[in-house]
Amino acid sequence: MTDKTPSIHGEWSSRFAFILAATGSAVGLGNIWKFPYITGQNGGGAFVMVYLICVAAIGIPIMIAEIMLGRRGRQSPINTMQTLAAEARVDPRWGYLGWMGMIAGFLILAYYSVIAGWAMAYIFKAFFGGFFGTDGGEVKEMFDNLMASPIQQIFWHTVFMFITMQVVMRGVKGGLEKAVRFLMPALFVILIILVAYAMASGSYPQGIHFLFSPDFSKINADAVLTAMGHAFFTLSLGMGAIMVYGSYLPGHVSIAKTTFFIAGADTAVALLAGIAIFPLVFANQLEVATGPGLIFQTLPLAFGHMSGGWLFGVLFFVLLFFAALTSSISLIEPAVAWLVENKNIARQKACVWAGTACWGLGVAVVFSFNIWSGFKIFDKNLFELLDYLTANLMLPLGGLCIAVFAGWMMKQVHAEQELELPAQGFQAWQFLIKYVAPAAVFIVFLHVLGVL
Ligand code: TRP
Repeated sequence: MTDKTPSIHGEWSSRFAFILAATGSAVGLGNIWKFPYITGQNGGGAFVMVYLICVAAIGIPIMIAEIMLGRRGRQSPINTMQTLAAEARVDPRWGYLGWMGMIAGFLILAYYSVIAGWAMAYIFKAFFGGFFGTDGGEVKEMFDNLMASPIQQIFWHTVFMFITMQVVMRGVKGGLEKAVRFLMPALFVILIILVAYAMASGSYPQGIHFLFSPDFSKINADAVLTAMGHAFFTLSLGMGAIMVYGSYLPGHVSIAKTTFFIAGADTAVALLAGIAIFPLVFANQLEVATGPGLIFQTLPLAFGHMSGGWLFGVLFFVLLFFAALTSSISLIEPAVAWLVENKNIARQKACVWAGTACWGLGVAVVFSFNIWSGFKIFDKNLFELLDYLTANLMLPLGGLCIAVFAGWMMKQVHAEQELELPAQGFQAWQFLIKYVAPAAVFIVFLHVLGVL
């Protein structure tokens, strides 16, 4: 084998540690908060089906490519792309891809932290018995009150950002590996309990019908773009997060197998969350297209009425907080790794700078839910704008570039060396990464622009 040199930032202690960290990055608010609400907004089944197809045909091959590029380049995404561009003798401007990713991660974290703050606020609402015996109107009021309060949201956003930066300062290994090992399985168990509750709710068949019977008349090009963008978002693809984690991956670990596991776990969590939530929506005559408040206005009803609901409620929001934390770490890691490599500043300082800037933007996001809610660009408030710009545009564009680079620019013997796949597996990956993934992203973009 050629240069499978170790990374200067250290390496994961094992393949398992990488799987944990990458799964921790993938599984987060995207699965439990975002997937259900965008599914509700986009009419259910057909949207879910497009999303699943995008995960399989675009997400998985690109995840393999991104991990592979990271492990070969062994640096922050910007420097990795420059190194690999030099190795492949192509334009050094491929390094810009790393830049776009770094900016995307930064923009996502600004609002991600605000939503994670909502989850933290709900830990305390659950703890003080706030869900007990509530009805649909009361949980809506509870959520609306939180939305109306910049102070509360800024407080929790600040706490969340502070904790994130503390973890990132210590380096992504150590604590993170240990945390994910217990928290992910625990999250899984709680979701199963919620699904069991949903099954007993009486509206279970309706929920399942909404999620899994596709009615393609309900979606348009924009919905397809949202589904595709979400495939990138939920797998943490297209901005270098998985690339940077891949750069700490020891050589000779099967990248493909690892990817299947991560994508499988990620998809399972999202579907379980959907199956837990939609029956509740129908049973309580709530609105499917509620938007970002969906889980906060449905799950408290379950916790408020099930036996053991107090405990499960607290646990659920604690676990959601941890799921968000392990994701947010990977959103800022590319920026921190780059500052350390290029600006020659200590990891701690890099964290303070990056974290503070991100926090500031997050405060503006908080205002977009209350005092600035009327301020719209392209009919979107700041939160919606950031979400659209990153998830629907920057991540797919980043993914497109990663696919083109891995499929067309890089010497294919190098890809073969890294992936160590059986011939047929390699050919299948090559086909998807060279043709299917780039074409799909391109065509969806053209449709949204109205060109096609
Ligand atoms: N995948 C995470 C989630 O679903 C969010 C996330 C973490 C992310 N790192 C990322 C999204 C990098 C895009 C790119 O909650």
